[in-house]
Amino acid sequence: MATIPAIRTREEILFDIMQTTSRLYGIRDKDILLERILTEARQALIADAGSIYLIEGDKLVIHYAQNETLQRRLQPGEKLPFSMFAFPLDKTTIAGAAALTKQLINEPDVYAISPDKSYKFGNSSDIATRYKTVSTLTIPLIAVSGEVLGVLQMINALDVHGRIRAFTADDEMFLSLFAANAATTLMHASLTREMILRMVQMAELHDPRETGLHVHRVANYAVEIYDRWAFNHNVHRHEREKFRDALKIAAMLHDVGKIGISDSILKKPGKLTPEEYQIMQTHTWRGSNLFQSGNSAVDALSRDIALRHHENWDGSGYPGHIAIDTGEILRYNSTHTAAQGLIGTEIPLGARITALADVYDALSCKRTYKDAWTEDKVYEEIKRLSNVKFDPEVTAAFFEVLPRIKIIKERFSEAAEPHGQKLVQMP
Ligand code: C2E
Ligand code: SIN
Ligand code: SIN
Ligand code: FE
Ligand code: FE
Repeated sequence: MATIPAIRTREEILFDIMQTTSRLYGIRDKDILLERILTEARQALIADAGSIYLIEGDKLVIHYAQNETLQRRLQPGEKLPFSMFAFPLDKTTIAGAAALTKQLINEPDVYAISPDKSYKFGNSSDIATRYKTVSTLTIPLIAVSGEVLGVLQMINALDVHGRIRAFTADDEMFLSLFAANAATTLMHASLTREMILRMVQMAELHDPRETGLHVHRVANYAVEIYDRWAFNHNVHRHEREKFRDALKIAAMLHDVGKIGISDSILKKPGKLTPEEYQIMQTHTWRGSNLFQSGNSAVDALSRDIALRHHENWDGSGYPGHIAIDTGEILRYNSTHTAAQGLIGTEIPLGARITALADVYDALSCKRTYKDAWTEDKVYEEIKRLSNVKFDPEVTAAFFEVLPRIKIIKERFSEAAEPHGQKLVQMP
């Protein structure tokens, strides 16, 4: 290693963290992001090697590994012959113990781990690569929700002479802050299909078995309604295709803010009290906050839909004119009882469409708090609410594509998919 680590002050370390974090924020592709997280962390700590593991079900899967020493043995441009491997998520490995205890683990010498620890060093990869691991600093990547996403492991810290040293308390502090930021960034940036589904599952909306189906139905209804609306409005094909792709993802995420609502409210079998309903309503702005830092079309639409899918055409919906980071009311309604709702086309199109798709699904399906309505009653209610709750042109488009809506309902029903949560293809 040519780099000579100077003694850094706490301010410099904090500045480093802010810089690396802002660099990470621009990155959306998950693999590129993981590589970058590892590189930045290794450079800051002067570590010879490092790995990132992600939790996949009950396994820890290694997703990225870097090793300067092994890399130097290769030809320029050649890549480390790296085989993906996974091990069970339990406390017998260092990485597993870090994930399960949610604690940072600093081991100065992995071949001299105290026998009273639950874990031992797995030396098989050292044997295979003829590389000697000595010091490791291992930290869980924990999302804001508390979910452990994976583990970041730094291997073999180097001193100014390139000799292996133990990781220090400053290294621990840096890696702790870095890991928190990296986990958040990973959550933000990984709006891939897989991550969307994971976020939705994490939210455990309603009955966990029903979740996958509810979000898939709402997203598919929304796209059908939009396609018809766009046809009715002569929207150009390019524009239509761009919007529908973003809509499909954003509509799936309409209720993602329910992550922040306690189970006692979310899964209450009966009617909510006014206080509980107030809390429930915060799922709108809590959800939109998750996309605040994103600047893609999908992020913008996800923000709109999460925030505005309970606004009503006549202005009686929620959350209305509020500050989206705090929920604070910015403009009161005429009776001064709540925030003034958005009216008519003030409500973004994607949200007007998702609102109908969501209510259609809520009425036609059983919920913990209500039975399913008959088809005819559902249509009657939607007609009644047209021009009141729903944009009349959106309602019209809905009824024009009703046969297709019914097919989607069948396709994503419990009966069609007994195990629920079938991971349905997205375009
Ligand atoms: P959700 O179950 O996905 O319902 C979405 C929306 O469908 C509701 O938004 C409401 O506009 C409509 N909806 C659902 N059931 C009925 C109904 O019986 N009649 C009519 N006219 N509309 C209905 P809303 O009211 O803002 O509720 C948002 C979320 O709050 C609901 O999402 C649900 O998770 C929860 N929630 C609302 N009311 C209750 C309740 O009484 N008990 C429980 N446990 N949860 C409730
Ligand atoms: C292994 O090399 O087996 C995993 C490293 C660890 O124990 O964390
Ligand atoms: C709702 O609960 O907001 C739907 C009932 C209605 O608007 O009449
Ligand atoms: Fe909602
Ligand atoms: Fe919903």
